[in-house]
Amino acid sequence: MARLAPSVLGADFARLGEEITDTNRVGVDILHLDIMDGHFVPNISFGPSIVKTINKLTESFLDVHLMLSEPEKYFEPFAKAGADAITFHLEVHPKPVEFALMLRKLGVKSGISINPDMPVEKVLPFLKEFDYLLVMSVFPGFGGQAFIRDSLPKVRAAREYIAKHGLKTQIAIDGGVDSGNAAEVVAAGADILVMGSAFFGAKDRAALVKMVAALK
Ligand code: DX5
Ligand code: ZN
Repeated sequence: MARLAPSVLGADFARLGEEITDTNRVGVDILHLDIMDGHFVPNISFGPSIVKTINKLTESFLDVHLMLSEPEKYFEPFAKAGADAITFHLEVHPKPVEFALMLRKLGVKSGISINPDMPVEKVLPFLKEFDYLLVMSVFPGFGGQAFIRDSLPKVRAAREYIAKHGLKTQIAIDGGVDSGNAAEVVAAGADILVMGSAFFGAKDRAALVKMVAALK
């Protein structure tokens, strides 16, 4: 069963409270929170205080995606703000095991992400140390971009590696995912589908959550 994780970046921030409450109503149990530093990516989003606010409004698992050049400086503030999982990028730390241990010590799940131009083979040897692999299917920085199809073989390769080595790592995919490509993304092996514009722009959000939950 696949799960939909709405990316709050796609929400209407003028009505943030109602938007979060609505994710509870439609049966979502995981939220994806995009943190951008204007350095690793050419955009700035929000910080721990907004994560703390969101944490008060929902019981959902908070998956915090750090698009930061120095993510380790912010592990503790985001963990204290209510992050259940923290994902950082392999691009900023080519030897990521040390960061995975820091996250474990803070009591949060760990995730490692790769951009579209990072070969999946580079991350595979590290997967045994991580709870999540986040495959980027757009270059991060902005919601609403088109899905990059080259991410599908990466998901397939990660799925095969995880099965072959008996790992528990879950695969998430982020960027341009929508109702049109959800089935092939899940068929490739993704467990979690991050959706920003597709979820918050959907006419029937509950139906979209159900549709994803029925995919295998
Ligand atoms: C991209 C972010 C994504 C993004 C997804 O920089 O990491 O999580 O908000 O938005 P959509 O689904 O609109 O591509
Ligand atoms: Zn993201």
